[in-house]
Amino acid sequence: MNENVLNHPMITHKLAILRDVNTCTKEFRELITEIATLICYEATRDAKLEEVTIDTPLESMKTGKVNEDNYVVVPILRAGMGMLDGIINVMPNAKVGHIGLARNETTHEPEEYYYKMPENLSSREALIIDPMLATGGSIAATIDRLKSDGVKCIKILCIVASPEGIKHIEDNYPEVQIFCATVDRQLNDNAYILPGLGDAGDRIYGTK
Ligand code: PRP
Ligand code: URA
Repeated sequence: MNENVLNHPMITHKLAILRDVNTCTKEFRELITEIATLICYEATRDAKLEEVTIDTPLESMKTGKVNEDNYVVVPILRAGMGMLDGIINVMPNAKVGHIGLARNETTHEPEEYYYKMPENLSSREALIIDPMLATGGSIAATIDRLKSDGVKCIKILCIVASPEGIKHIEDNYPEVQIFCATVDRQLNDNAYILPGLGDAGDRIYGTK
């Protein structure tokens, strides 16, 4: 099982507002940020701590710090950018690499239009962020691109996943962990998630 679903009443509560067709753009953006922050805490639970000695006002102590330079956060444009502030709340110094993908409305296959990653990519753990894991095609294309650039450790952080999308990733990339706020029922004939929240990009940017 590669999927890690955040089972928490406050997540269900926030998702209920997020999914609602009457939720305005401002609130939608704020909730995407908040949920992304919570998912990021889960996804970095295994972060390596490097021992440091610090001085409190009272005494010295040995403790640990995470080297954020070990990570690259990869938002899938456009909708993935909606989660970025939430991730940066947890890891303010993480490097960000962008991939631009748009699903072809007929074939539902992702088409790449942009790719720009930070240096030393192959030595970083990649956190792919995108609110929606529907067919899994966009995330699979991102994983393939990162792997061909030598990235060895990849995690997916999404908000709503479909069972079909999770199976697609698990079947093809058994080493990749998925962190999501919910797994919904199914895809519809247009490859949208049911009950879902609609088109995440359009709702974040108010384009429809
Ligand atoms: C949406 C969403 C994902 C993708 C999910 O993006 O943000 O990237 O679809 O679908 P999949 O799992 O079937 O590939 P879209 O292509 O609509 O572009 P946008 O972010 O610009 O709205
Ligand atoms: N992309 C979205 O934004 N929503 C879906 O339900 C599926 C793909």
